[in-house]
Amino acid sequence: MYPDLAGKVVIITGAGSGLGKAMALRFGKEKAKVVVCYFPEEQKQDVDDIITDTHSMGGEAIGVFTDVTNEHNVVTLIQTATKHFGSLDIVINNAGIENEVPTVDMLLEDWNKVISTNLTGAFLGCREALKYMLEHNIKGNIINMSSVHEMIPRPHFVHYVASKGGIKLMTETLALEYAPKGIRVNSIGPGAIDTPINAEKFSDPDVEKLIPMGYIGKPEEIAACAAFLASEQASYVTGITLFSDGGMTKYPSFQAGRG
Ligand code: NAI
Repeated sequence: MYPDLAGKVVIITGAGSGLGKAMALRFGKEKAKVVVCYFPEEQKQDVDDIITDTHSMGGEAIGVFTDVTNEHNVVTLIQTATKHFGSLDIVINNAGIENEVPTVDMLLEDWNKVISTNLTGAFLGCREALKYMLEHNIKGNIINMSSVHEMIPRPHFVHYVASKGGIKLMTETLALEYAPKGIRVNSIGPGAIDTPINAEKFSDPDVEKLIPMGYIGKPEEIAACAAFLASEQASYVTGITLFSDGGMTKYPSFQAGRG
């Protein structure tokens, strides 16, 4: 636990499920003030449950419908969050999608949808958070959800890898640009984590063979990285991707002398 997170205002996009939900609950446990952003509207009931759980752990929470591809929604999100909680300390750009399509069959529509959610959505979240933090002289911090696929190529997911590669350099650039203002910007690079985005894929037992540590990660293990990066324990950390991947980025084919 990180006591300095208590009372901090944290916005998390795509928090109605998976990693976003786990992070919302973790920040609730840290007694932070959590803005649980959800999309689509059908997640409202789940978000109400997250809010109830957050309160029961000593945190505070509100739900805000936010489509990160919609600039107006993101601008309004920052206004709503700061009006309700009076400040803004941490923004986690987590919303993301993927779909498998061989590149030659990929429609421009497929490409645009993934880029606008994963990369442009995170850009809008960063831009609006930075504006507020600079205007109010807040030494806040931003966390972007990347992936091991910011460094590992992935056939049939060219839009996804392009979006995560973009997140890597966007994070590094913003870290450099705003370090003099005391604002930290980092990414998390999850490996294979058990969430709805890949439930079908991970039902294949062979997936675990790709992971040196031999198991699919839990959402709570990513939420722990977010809590660390947002905390004062990471006060000198900016511009990194914190991989939490059971060793997946460490060339597993070389394990045990193979490769
Ligand atoms: P998920 O599907 O549970 O979460 C993604 C969330 O984003 C969903 O709640 C979805 O409704 C929301 N979303 C989709 N379009 C949106 C939009 N336009 N505006 C706002 N929200 C939108 O999957 P998961 O795993 O929790 O994914 C979270 C992030 O973690 C994504 O950025 C994903 O790329 C990344 N990630 C996940 C990994 C995994 O193994 N689960 C591995 C590496 C990265």
